Amino acid sequence: MKYEIVKLRERPGLVPKAARWFEHTFSIPEEEYLKSMEGMLRGEKPVPQWYIAVDGGDILGGMGVIENDHHNRPDLAPNVCAVYTDGPYRGRGIAGALLKTVCEDMAAMGIDTLYLVTDHTSLYERFGWEFLCMVEGDDGPGRMYIHKK
Ligand SMILES: CC(C)(COP(=O)(O)OP(=O)(O)OC[C@H]1O[C@@H](n2cnc3c(N)ncnc32)[C@H](O)[C@@H]1OP(=O)(O)O)[C@@H](O)C(=O)NCCC(=O)NCCS
Repeated sequence: MKYEIVKLRERPGLVPKAARWFEHTFSIPEEEYLKSMEGMLRGEKPVPQWYIAVDGGDILGGMGVIENDHHNRPDLAPNVCAVYTDGPYRGRGIAGALLKTVCEDMAAMGIDTLYLVTDHTSLYERFGWEFLCMVEGDDGPGRMYIHKK
C-alpha cells in the first residue's frame, strides 16, 4: 500500500486538514491541535511536532510529540501522543512507519529519548520501545514506555 509520511512542519498547508482529522479522531477540539501546530510552525523548539500518513488527499494516520501527555511525571519528556491509524488502513505498517520517522526526526533535532503513555501491553515492544514504569494520568494509571535512538 502506498502512503507518504509527512512532517507537518514541512507541509504547513496541510495543518488545517490535519487538525480536523485529529479532532475527528480523538474528539478534542481542533483549536487545541491548531494551537500546538502553530507553535510547531514558529520553529522555536523541536517540541511540539506533528506527523501524518497520507495517500493523495486522504489522511490515514497520525501522531504528535508534545511535552507532557497529561501525566504526573513531567521529568519523562517529551511524549509521543495521539498515535492512531484509521480502521481500514490498520495492519499495513503505518503506525510503525510513523514511529520510525518520529524517532529519527526528533533524534536529528537533538532529542534522542522519547516517552509514551499507553494502555497497550505488547504493542510498542514491536517497534523497539521498552516499558519503563507506571504513571498517573488524568484518566487513571498508564504504562510509560521509553525509546532511545
Ligand atoms: C494501534 C494502532 C495505532 C496500530 O496501527 P497500525 O498502523 O495498524 O500498526 P502497524 O501496521 O504499523 O503495526 C501493527 C503491528 O502491531 C500489532 N498490533 C496491532 N494492534 C495491536 C495491539 N492492540 N496489541 C498488540 N499488537 C498490536 C500488529 O499485529 C502488527 O504487528 P506485526 O507487524 O508484527 O504484524 C491502530 O490499531 C490504532 O489506531 N488503534 C486505535 C488507537 C490506539 O490504540 N492507539 C494507540 C494509543 S497509545
